[in-house]
Parts: sequence; structure tokens; C-alpha cells
Amino acid sequence: MKITEFMDTDHIEIGKLFDVYLERHADGSAAYGIFAQFRNRLERHIACEEEVLFKIADDVAGKDNMLTGELRLQHDRIKELLSKIQQALKAGSNAKIFNDDLFAVMSAHEKMEDDSFYSWLDDTLDEKAKNEALASIVEVSKRYKI
Ligand SMILES: [Fe+2]
Ligand SMILES: [Fe+2]
Repeated sequence: MKITEFMDTDHIEIGKLFDVYLERHADGSAAYGIFAQFRNRLERHIACEEEVLFKIADDVAGKDNMLTGELRLQHDRIKELLSKIQQALKAGSNAKIFNDDLFAVMSAHEKMEDDSFYSWLDDTLDEKAKNEALASIVEVSKRYKI
């Protein structure tokens, strides 16, 4: 299986959870529970990338390559916004400004991964390396109860 296909499926499922949360974000405790589910799923995806795919890319392209450097910065911004949203929901205040920011950052980030990163990995790695990467991703995913 291609890395692009596997990771894209995850993007789509994360996007669906984000949509459900956005529809319910003003619904008090219900919003909090839905957000927690979305956050957990997104953090699982990020962990799989940082602990498996970015490491492979750094081994191939060098630790100071521009691509994983930029993607890591975007992950940090996404994690920061997830914390801000959680704090806002906990305090019962409106999270809309952070929701909008997260939507924008995630959209740009996913496009960069789809157009440049995953496809580069698929072109660069042989079948064996790809299968090993996907098996490692499944292992990292097990840490997250979803
Ligand atoms: Fe990512
Ligand atoms: Fe991703």
C-alpha cells in the first residue's frame, strides 16, 4: 500500500471529526467530548508522522532538510491551537477564533503533505521500506485508545 493512500485516509477521517466538532462547538459539554475525540485522533496522526515518517525522511534527506523542518513547525502550531481550543472550551468561552486558525493551518499543512511529502516518500522508498513504515505506524497508533 502507498503511504499517500494510508495517510490520506487518516486526513479524511480527521476532517470528518473536525466537521462534527465545528457543528457542535458551542454546545457546552457535548462540544468538549467531541473535541477530545478529534484531538486524540489528530495527535495520533501527528505522532505517527513525527515518530516514523519524519525520521525516515531525515535519514534519507538529512536532518536539516527544509520539508520536515517546516512540517514540524506546522505541527507545533497545530498542537498549540489544540491546547488553546481545549482551554477555551473548558472555560466556557468562544473558541471560534482558534477553530478558524486551526482550520487554516491544517488545510495548508495537509496540502503540503499530500502534494510534497507523502508522494516523495512513495517515490523514494522501496516496497519493503514502505511496508515497514506502515507497520511502525500501526504500532505507534496502538498507544492511542480510539
Ligand atoms: Fe502532519
Ligand atoms: Fe498528515
